Amino acid sequence: MSLTSAQLDVVDLTPRIGSEIRTDLDTLLSGRAAEKIRDTLEQRGVVFFRGLHISDEQQVAIAATLGTVVANEGEEGIYKISLDENVNQRAKYLKGSLFWHFDGSLQPYPNLATLLRAMKLSDTGGDTEFCNTYAAYDDLPQSDKDLIADLRVVHSAERSQYYVTPEMSYDEIAFWQKSPTKACPIVWTHQSGRKSLLLGATADYVVGMPIEQSRALLARLRDWATQPRYVYRHEWEVGDLLIWDNTGTMHRALPYAADSGRLMHRTILAGEEPLN
Ligand code: OGA
Ligand code: MN
Repeated sequence: MSLTSAQLDVVDLTPRIGSEIRTDLDTLLSGRAAEKIRDTLEQRGVVFFRGLHISDEQQVAIAATLGTVVANEGEEGIYKISLDENVNQRAKYLKGSLFWHFDGSLQPYPNLATLLRAMKLSDTGGDTEFCNTYAAYDDLPQSDKDLIADLRVVHSAERSQYYVTPEMSYDEIAFWQKSPTKACPIVWTHQSGRKSLLLGATADYVVGMPIEQSRALLARLRDWATQPRYVYRHEWEVGDLLIWDNTGTMHRALPYAADSGRLMHRTILAGEEPLN
């Protein structure tokens, strides 16, 4: 155990979220540190490695030491994140990533974690922000914990697209409405017993609540969870390999131009806990 710890140098970047892990590529590829990295990820929400200069294959190999790589995510476990339609045909959908969200909100098992590696950066904008939704839940006043304990929210792809295209045409709405919606609890009680908040741009309405009240509550909780004390902002350097715990954080990219060339290579780890 002390051997494993000695190989990782964990530097916390803010009190509540975000750590840099300093280690070498051999340690990462060997899987020796996998348990420690997963623990750090769960506690800190976001971890990153700087200056490793790895290949796509090594990114996927590192991911495989941490969980189950989602194979249909692009070729060989690498999916290109770009807002340029010439690079990613789903660029329009990805524009929703500029607003607070967690990945896989419409799937039965939200992704466990996501690995993102910076291939090319935009000259301006394009940092990524993360907030710790475990910490945000823990700090809620008891009255709010009681209020939201049993509430459920319907998530939809359509809802997140109103952020991207506020005046969608009928055809656009009809297109996004083809994606099935999903009801999720606001409070996710994990198998560990810890609780996190599930909000974000796909969160449409609270089941059984008048619509104005529902919108106000979702905005109030998002404002709460994204206060500076729960947020880590990552300023990318080319080659950074960053991992977020998708079950205990939300994230958003800060605006950047679609033709800026910004490119990230993403690998997803499959969810291990269903959302009931
Ligand atoms: C994602 C995402 C943010 C970014 O890949 O799921 O939201 O900064 N990316 O590119
Ligand atoms: Mn995302």
